[in-house]
Amino acid sequence: MNTVLVGAQWGDEGKGKVIDFLTEEADVVVRFQGGSNAGHTVVVGDKKYVLHLVPSGVLHEGKHCVIGNGVVMDPFDLMKELEQVESWGFELKGRFHISERAHMVMQWHRAIDRAEEAARPAGRKIGTTGRGIGPAYAAKVGRYGMRVGDILKPNFLDVVRAQVEDANRALEALGAHTLDAEEMVKLYTPMVAALMPYVTDTIQFMHESLEAGKSVLFEGAQATMLDVDFGTYPFVTSSNPTAGGACTGSGVSPRAIDRVIGVLKLYTTRVGEGPFPTELKDADGETLRRRGGEFGATTGRPRRCGWFDAVVARYAQRVNGVDFWAMTKLDVLDEFETVKICTGYRRDDGFVYQTFPADLAVLDRCEPVYEELPGWKCETSHVTRYEDLPENARKYVERVLELVGGKLGVLSVGPARETTLRIGV
Ligand code: IMP
Repeated sequence: MNTVLVGAQWGDEGKGKVIDFLTEEADVVVRFQGGSNAGHTVVVGDKKYVLHLVPSGVLHEGKHCVIGNGVVMDPFDLMKELEQVESWGFELKGRFHISERAHMVMQWHRAIDRAEEAARPAGRKIGTTGRGIGPAYAAKVGRYGMRVGDILKPNFLDVVRAQVEDANRALEALGAHTLDAEEMVKLYTPMVAALMPYVTDTIQFMHESLEAGKSVLFEGAQATMLDVDFGTYPFVTSSNPTAGGACTGSGVSPRAIDRVIGVLKLYTTRVGEGPFPTELKDADGETLRRRGGEFGATTGRPRRCGWFDAVVARYAQRVNGVDFWAMTKLDVLDEFETVKICTGYRRDDGFVYQTFPADLAVLDRCEPVYEELPGWKCETSHVTRYEDLPENARKYVERVLELVGGKLGVLSVGPARETTLRIGV
């Protein structure tokens, strides 16, 4: 069974936790896009692990983990993370592979990311994670990027020098500090030896694994509404976190994919700038943030919180072809008298949008249309069977499902591994 796992909203849906238990049934786990902008939190026993670049499968001994060609990988972030994983007691040798074709996020991409963000006027800021993601992907599609395989070439350090010179022109134009080329060369020299053992032709590795009947889990980072094509452009990341990205970012054919699982938080959050139709700036929003622990795993920023948006989720269901949903954080809603679901966006002239508009200016003229359901006012995090949930909680989940399509596969009612109810998957 080859599974693609994607986020259905603006990220932070709880993908790390779902990936973690799906990994138990997978032989190979692949990251196919994004970079260290991601932050996947996995709780095992009383230990909490946060991973940014390394697939969460690394927390399961014996599983193979792949950084696919679609990822942009910062070698320093990666080395730091690999050291950390080893310090947690997990062995990496022979089971961790980085695609030769993946692009690298270099120090100058990070510098440009921060300088560009600082130069954007209010209202146009994206609120990037500052990890160099946009400039690294810009270099890739602009055909001047650096691929992981380049570190094996004898002219690698000359290319570093040339790229720093080019980047310095951009940094100067942005009024930012420039970088010293020789310092960069010194920085990248030891990295070559450190990364070398992991560099692999992952396309070949993936196909050999599939031919041997291994089961593959494609681990999406970020989410549908942050997709550069389908999200709230330009307030998006620079990759395709949607299901199609699993193929282009790993070299595996769509024919090899057996199912798509979408991770859907039962309310909505967003970190960074950009439209968010159901955002709550009141006490209810505060309650969601407090109960949900909604602070960024990568940047620590408080996340914006709001009611569940069925327009977004239905759109994600279609774009990704979600077969099963992994619904998360039901327990966060436990203390509300009533809970709301947004079923459409009403424009000032009365027209109701049922699907997410491409033109963000439209959203400025819209109000969410809400359906209000009774809350359940009791803790659900101890519940281990779906049937044992309070009736109103089940009704809420079932209404969400009716509005968005797809089947319920997993329901999560707390942060620990044991609080994951498997229903149809
Ligand atoms: P970038 O990916 O750093 O360029 O940031 C672009 C936008 O995506 C910003 O609004 C970020 O906050 C958001 N973003 C990037 N990665 C994540 C993630 O893993 N979770 C949630 N938001 C993210």
